[in-house]
Amino acid sequence: MTSVSENITALPNEPDAEQLNAWDRKYQLHPWCPMDSWRDYDNMLVDQAEGIYLWDHKGKRFIDGPGGMWCVQIGYGRQKMADAISTQVMRLAYNSPWTTTTEPSAVLARKIAKMTPGDLNNVFFTTGGSTAVDSALRTVQFLNNRLGRPNKKIVIAREKGYHGSTYLASTVTGKERDKNRFDVESRLVEFLPDVNPYRRPKGMSVEEWCDEKIADLENAIAELGPENVGAFIAEPILCSGGVIVPPPGYHKRTLEVCRKHDIIYISDEVVTGFGRLGHWFASEDVFGIQPDIITCAKGLTSGYLPLGACIISDRIMQRMTGPDQDVLFSNGYTYSAHPVCCAAALTNIEIIEEEGILEHVREVTPHFQKRLHDLIKYPIVGDVRGMGLLGCIEGRPEEDGGNLEAQRKLGALLDEACEEMGLLVRPLINMAVFSPPLIISKDQIDEMFDILEKALQKVTDDMADAA
Ligand SMILES: Cc1ncc(COP(=O)(O)O)c(C=O)c1O
Repeated sequence: MTSVSENITALPNEPDAEQLNAWDRKYQLHPWCPMDSWRDYDNMLVDQAEGIYLWDHKGKRFIDGPGGMWCVQIGYGRQKMADAISTQVMRLAYNSPWTTTTEPSAVLARKIAKMTPGDLNNVFFTTGGSTAVDSALRTVQFLNNRLGRPNKKIVIAREKGYHGSTYLASTVTGKERDKNRFDVESRLVEFLPDVNPYRRPKGMSVEEWCDEKIADLENAIAELGPENVGAFIAEPILCSGGVIVPPPGYHKRTLEVCRKHDIIYISDEVVTGFGRLGHWFASEDVFGIQPDIITCAKGLTSGYLPLGACIISDRIMQRMTGPDQDVLFSNGYTYSAHPVCCAAALTNIEIIEEEGILEHVREVTPHFQKRLHDLIKYPIVGDVRGMGLLGCIEGRPEEDGGNLEAQRKLGALLDEACEEMGLLVRPLINMAVFSPPLIISKDQIDEMFDILEKALQKVTDDMADAA
């Protein structure tokens, strides 16, 4: 890609980078925008991408450590994707999902139903992850209203869980700092404490920690009354919360508790779906459970176009449908089952199958996880954790009494050092998380972790100098 810096040369009438950044600052409101400084800084102007690499407007190359926003599974610059999208645009760019259907959406629904565990056979297409979660939660409400138990609506969710940015999805999101100025429907949700084994008290075994987490769920149900609890929502791994892998056995045991009380188990696989852990879905293949609803998005199209899905079990559908009432499932979007997005998803799946990307992930995972876990040798690192091609480094300062500024500083320093050395990471307070494109080779994994090691050493030295 030596031609990248030549390609980005501005044409006479094209705005240059400075102008674009100025317009961006002035007119564009980005997600999670800091209100005190949003007009003060330039977001990186990304210009091109290929494989696992991005180039900024100056032609500098970066490894895309977060894989976009945990989504670019097949990597960037895929001609086959471009062709499939353009072909579908010319064939049929849009249809109303209310009254018509299309080949891409019908074929995709069938494919997804065959990938999901058990009787999860009913695919409701949405526009992304938040709307998939929103649809799952509305399904629970619809079901319980239909069954004549209107109080069975409370959703049990977890601290540090992230489920999206609609009103309902943000209501069940457990990241307090994300929603301190927005209203949520707090009567509808109950949060369970952190499940992170790293947070367990000194001297407690991981097994005892798991028992405690199951007791948290059982106690919450007992306190709220099972007749008032409609659903439990859980990411198999809490990704945006810092790649938190619950203790072994947790998933199966939480499902058993939910089954006992007729509580719908929603497995939010927006990040873990479509290959991140080396399987189409992680719920059953990795954690041994068959949930009632799975939500997915992101990797479904590898981020090439927006699409999500809420996949509902036959068991739930049977309880929701019937001839006794004239009821509509009045949930949906203008862009549900968008034919171009479905065509992109089908091509994405085809590429993953043809290139054996799931197998590749399983093959390179031990190397990725070994390089990740080696980082614990740096004293500024408190914890490293991950699974599949997901990883997180957590800095040590958090242990110093929760000083937010010190925590943020460590995250920011690491982010800065990595960026300087050509690696993008996703800083989360005092953590950095990774979910590179799944096509990453073993050599590229080394390239990524070599940079991380250098960056950690630099931050260590800089912090020592500053002390
Ligand atoms: C687990 C999980 N659920 C839901 C969402 C929301 O997805 P979207 O941003 O596509 O609406 C995200 C986004 O990061 C996520 O990580």
